[in-house]
This record gives sequence, structure tokens and C-alpha cells, in this order.
Amino acid sequence: MPVVLAIESSCDETAVAILRREAKGPARILASEISSQIDLHRVHGGVVPELASRNHSLHLRPLIEQALARSGVELGEIDAFAATSGPGLASSLLIGATTAKALAAASRKPFLAINHLEGHLLSPFVHHDEVPPHTALIVSGGHTLLLDVPHAGHYLKLGGTRDDAAGEAFDKVAKMLGLPYPGGPEIEKTAKSGNAAAYDFPRSMMKEPGYDFSFSGLKTAVLYTLSDRDPAGGQPTHEDLPDLCASFQQAVIDVLLAKTLRAAEKSGHRAIALSGGVSLNRALRAAFQRACEEREIILHLADASLCTDNAAMIAFAALLAHARGQSSPLDSPIDPNLRLAS
Ligand code: KG4
Ligand code: ZN
Repeated sequence: MPVVLAIESSCDETAVAILRREAKGPARILASEISSQIDLHRVHGGVVPELASRNHSLHLRPLIEQALARSGVELGEIDAFAATSGPGLASSLLIGATTAKALAAASRKPFLAINHLEGHLLSPFVHHDEVPPHTALIVSGGHTLLLDVPHAGHYLKLGGTRDDAAGEAFDKVAKMLGLPYPGGPEIEKTAKSGNAAAYDFPRSMMKEPGYDFSFSGLKTAVLYTLSDRDPAGGQPTHEDLPDLCASFQQAVIDVLLAKTLRAAEKSGHRAIALSGGVSLNRALRAAFQRACEEREIILHLADASLCTDNAAMIAFAALLAHARGQSSPLDSPIDPNLRLAS
């Protein structure tokens, strides 16, 4: 019954989680603590790396103490310590990884360096007995990645974004439209009263063979729509903001869905898993749900609290790696550009 404590500090959330897993069966989240820095970065319209790392150092120790207190687990009962080792901001990754290594060294327990993207990818399965063969779509602020997953620990990259990540496109378009950071939830909210067919925005690379994505053309199309209509300011009017949001959101959903379905059909997998911050989007979830039901494909979605950055998903990836007998040396480096699969 291993117990893992994991730290996530790759970007603007400081998070600590403690998970336990029986030899077989689902993991139990004993604690999952998060200190969000969103408000701190909002005034700057995006993440400021120096602010992020300073805040990780301030909040990490109290969060570890809070996680131990909430879980009722003593530090000496932890079987392994894990941290996100990349991808992410170097100065932020260092805080979490160094802390987890120090705890592992002091407790004479193994350390596990975990890829942030593996955490996202596995997040829909935290409450499951096992990870089935599936097609995985990770859609977050920094990444858009389509993978074939024969089993946990084995990841084959099918495609990724050639420019902006899906979440990044949401954030940048929201900024253009005068909506606050992070843009995804704002666009979703505004899109609710809009007509998704009002603007015919491009579905880049949707019909092309292969599984790569591109969102910069879509972003530019929104920009041109704004400036064509109002060369002076380019700001949307109150009335058409919902239509712009709904049409943009639909264009992103159409491309993500088409490519993921094509990948699933090609692989023969009967399961698709969606993860990452953008997978919180209700319109996206509904579109995938509908399409999967029609094709009798099982759709795996993570709990809302596991979609955006959190440490429970890192602890879960670490539990599975620990069960496979893996551990990482204490001098293993962080890597801001760490890849999940080539
Ligand atoms: O996974 P995440 O927390 O961080 C990264 O690892 O990047 O994802 C954050 C991203 C942001 O770009 C945010 O705008 C987007 O997820 N996001 C959404 C929604 N909620 C968060 N995008 C679309 N619709 C949402 N409801
Ligand atoms: Zn993330």
C-alpha cells in the first residue's frame, strides 16, 4: 500500500498531494492542496516567471505541512517523494524538484521525477483500477498533444501543435477581446449566449493527413475580423462578443474532435481520454461526449479539480511508476523542455 507525496510547481500553481494505492484498485487522494497564483499574475495579463518562483518558495513548506495534516499521514510513512521535473518554467520547476529530493534524501526514500504531461494524461484514470489502451488528447495552456497509449508508461506521439497550444489560443483571443486572464473560462462563459455559426473562422489543418494542429491562423482570423470592422480600435461591441467567442470556441473544438476521432479510429482503441485545463470546457466535453456515444467509444474525463494543474495527477503518475519499480537519481535534472514522447 504505497503512499506517495508529490509536488507540482511547473508554472503558476504550487501544489502538494498525498495519494495511496493498493496493489490493485483505484488510488485514494488523501490530500490535494493548491495555492493558486492566478490573481497575482492576472494584473500582468500572463505568468511572470520571477513572481511565480518566489511564490512557490513562500508557499511550498506550509502546503506540505497542510497536506500531511489533512491526510493524517506522518512524514515517516511516505514511501516515495515525487515532483514535476518538466516541462515548465525552469525557476519554478527547481523549487518543487529540489524540495522533493531533499525530503527523499532526508527520509531515505526513493525520489521520482515526473513529466507534467504524463500527469495530465493519466489524470482521467486516478479513480480507475487500471489505465486501458486509449487515444489521449492533452489540451492545456502550454500543450496540445495527441498520443496513442497502449498502456501506462508507454506513450506514442501522434501529433502536436505547430504554433500556439489550444489554451494559449483561448488566452490570446480573450486578451484581444478585452477579457481577463486566464481566457478559457471567460470565453466559455461569454460564448454561452452566442451563435457558434456567426463567424466562419478557419479550421486549420483539419482535413490534412497527420495529427498536427495549428491555432495561430485562427487567432489571426479573429484579429482581422476585429480590425476589419473597426480599424480604429478593433474592440468588439457588447452585442457581438458572445458570437465571436462562440464561433472561435467552435473552431477549436471542431479541429480537436476531428483529429482525435481519426486517431482513435485508426488505432482501433475503444477509449479516448481528455485532459488538461482546456478539457474543463463544457462545450468541448459535450461535443466529445456526443461523438463518442455515436461511435460507442468510452470517453474518459478527469474530475474538474484534476484538469488544471494539480499535484494529485503527479502523485498518481508517480504511484504507477513506483509500482513498475522505477525511481529517479537524486541528481536527475529538471528540464523545461522535457518531452513525453517523440
Ligand atoms: O492545464 P493547465 O492548468 O495549465 C497548463 O499546464 O498549461 O491549463 C490552463 C489553460 C489556460 O490556457 C486556460 O485558459 C485553459 O486551460 N482553460 C480553459 C478553460 N478553463 C481553463 N480553456 C477553455 N475553456 C475552459 N473552461
Ligand atoms: Zn498543466
